[in-house]
Amino acid sequence: MVDTKTQYQKIKKEVDAAVISVLESSQFIGGKVLNDFATNLATYHGAKHVIPCANGTDALQISMMALDLKPGDEVITPSFTYIATVEAAALLHLQPIFVDVDKETFCMDPESIEKAITPKTKAIIPVHLYGHAANMEKIMAIAKKHNLAVIEDNAQAIGCDYTFSDGKVQKTGTIGHIGCTSFYPSKNLGAYGDGGAIFTNDDSLANRLRMIAAHGQSKRYYHDMVGCNSRLDTVQAAILDIKLKHLDEYIAARRKAADFYDKAFAGESKITVPFRASYSNHVFHQYTLLLNDVDRDELHQFLADNGIPSMIYYPVPCHKQKMFESLGGNNFRLPVTDWLTERVISLPMHTELDEEQQQLIVSKVLEFIKK
Ligand SMILES: Cc1ncc(COP(=O)(O)O)c(C=O)c1O
Repeated sequence: MVDTKTQYQKIKKEVDAAVISVLESSQFIGGKVLNDFATNLATYHGAKHVIPCANGTDALQISMMALDLKPGDEVITPSFTYIATVEAAALLHLQPIFVDVDKETFCMDPESIEKAITPKTKAIIPVHLYGHAANMEKIMAIAKKHNLAVIEDNAQAIGCDYTFSDGKVQKTGTIGHIGCTSFYPSKNLGAYGDGGAIFTNDDSLANRLRMIAAHGQSKRYYHDMVGCNSRLDTVQAAILDIKLKHLDEYIAARRKAADFYDKAFAGESKITVPFRASYSNHVFHQYTLLLNDVDRDELHQFLADNGIPSMIYYPVPCHKQKMFESLGGNNFRLPVTDWLTERVISLPMHTELDEEQQQLIVSKVLEFIKK
């Protein structure tokens, strides 16, 4: 599905030198390299504060802790997402309220948010799934009306530009009160291990986020609140700082690959290619087809038999995971989520795809659906 090996070969010299430089400095935790990366990431996003942390899951947990949410508080999230979005809420004894997604964007449907709001609702967690932005303009308006916090799960959409109706453009992850991202190796900005970051433009939230990620300390060995230990390794920061310079080029390569697929599948009634809303420029973390009248699991197997990887993101939506049985997961009725879960399939998508590889992938998909 990804080719991080070839991608690394192209920046090997720079990366190797940066890693060796960290090793020679012996500054493995914190330091200038980490701070420089945080500053560069903030500048790239136009964000006031970036707090690096150990992974995207921690970023979400720390964000919910910083909002001082209490057990039983409700957070509205999509169920059609990776489990990490919701797991952190459950860990903090919050009640996830699953809402349905939009049929075209696969992201949280703003209409369903209003219906899910109760006096216990404290936050909304939109996910920019597969690299396409959720409808943030509508989500922020709902949040404002009901005085709710918004935590964007931007793990799959780093670099995505969101265009508001007045023409203002902002990076996803910086629109809500807090944004979270992941540097898992296959992500659009992937580390060579785990990593994550939290974004905010709010000074006091930034302060709390920073403290929570560092055992709740304001000053070394003075712990004002219960926190956790969540750090981005300096070696990873050094690698990410180099890759950040290439991020726009990586996104362009993904878009080029997506354009190729789009064109190849155009006019196929059994295939719906990824939707691109006017407010979001898709960064194609995944290239996910919606199948119509095709046995998805058989296609998955057929591709595997022909040496072509494909993935189902995700085979079981969060509300149907065993993990959420005791939190009433089965009580949620999410028809679009259930419908999508049975029909989506993701094809290889990364920066190193060439036309020959894509042609083979496309020809095998078409061979199967025309059988
Ligand atoms: C939507 C979403 N949220 C959260 C995460 C969690 O990130 P991490 O794996 O870095 O903890 C991921 C990625 O794995 C993700 O895809």
